Amino acid sequence: MAFYPFIAAEQAYPRNQWYVAAWSHEVGEAPLMRMIAGERIILYRQRSGSVAAVSALCPHRQMPLETAEIVNDQIVCPYHGAAFGSDGVCAHLPFQKHVPAGMNLKSFHVVDHAPFIWLWVGSEETPDLNRLPFARCLQPEAGQTLLFGLKTFHVQARSQIVLENLFDQSHISFTHPLTLGQRCAANGSTRPSEIIDEENYLAFMRLSPPKATDEALHALFPALSAQMRIRSRSELFGVGLVISAGSEIIACDEEGEPTSSVGDLVFFHAITPETQHSTHYFAGIMRNFALNDQDLSNSYAERNDQVVSEDIRVLEAIEPHLAEADARKEPNFVTDAAAVRVRRRIEALMGNAPAHCV
Ligand code: FES
Ligand SMILES: [Fe+2]
Repeated sequence: MAFYPFIAAEQAYPRNQWYVAAWSHEVGEAPLMRMIAGERIILYRQRSGSVAAVSALCPHRQMPLETAEIVNDQIVCPYHGAAFGSDGVCAHLPFQKHVPAGMNLKSFHVVDHAPFIWLWVGSEETPDLNRLPFARCLQPEAGQTLLFGLKTFHVQARSQIVLENLFDQSHISFTHPLTLGQRCAANGSTRPSEIIDEENYLAFMRLSPPKATDEALHALFPALSAQMRIRSRSELFGVGLVISAGSEIIACDEEGEPTSSVGDLVFFHAITPETQHSTHYFAGIMRNFALNDQDLSNSYAERNDQVVSEDIRVLEAIEPHLAEADARKEPNFVTDAAAVRVRRRIEALMGNAPAHCV
């Protein structure tokens, strides 16, 4: 039987892909243990600054290496002192010269691309760097940008439903009535005005009609004239990095035609399978205006924490009921189109081209 919510694939998530393993700032000289895609892994930063990732249990007697000392970039097992290089190869045993077979740790390909440490989940051959997700607006070189409210959540639910929830606008009024309010009309969200569908990238764009600029926004963005529009976007980079509710504030001329972008506010989420039924959820915010306004940062971050927690509550309520669920029998609403498109894309990456969709 297919693994819900897929209709043909029997696995929970695609392999041979890049997933976020950690925030860059989380990984230091001491080992950080994390289970990624069913593999217990330790990550640590070497003296050169590069990050290493190896399996987290010593092959000799299964000692977890999260408490291991790192000496000259080598991991020293705290039980009997076997030392492993950052490539996982056992380089030294304290009581004998001969290293028996089976003493190596598994090593993983990682890329430290702030704010994330990416880990290749899949075959041990050289990973495909072309599939490394890249969101320009999250890069410091994008200019005057601020990343803030960075937080790691844990979800006791499969990664695919966590991912799809980020493309489901119609739950906002009902799951987040106090935190996000009635942002969507009860009869559903507006259709995207543009869909960009490329290899490794899928985006749904919407441009609001012109509306009068309110005073609060005018105070924040003096370049706004009497009319403004908002370009919102939901984007999937690779298989797990999402920008949802990205909002670009656009100044308009008297006819309501866009003239310039005056501010960008982006909520980003990296969704990484921990096991088939649990997920790491890295959430953060980027903005390119009012960079020194700490109160603004605090209030956005606090609200985002609440919003993500509200989503997690719903997803964890659903997960226990999915063992027998069959996505082919589930009705879809018109407002499910974006999430189902994301599902089809992910399922196709697992070598399954679903025959049935909305
Ligand atoms: S358990 Fe690691 S060397 Fe024995
Ligand atoms: Fe939500």
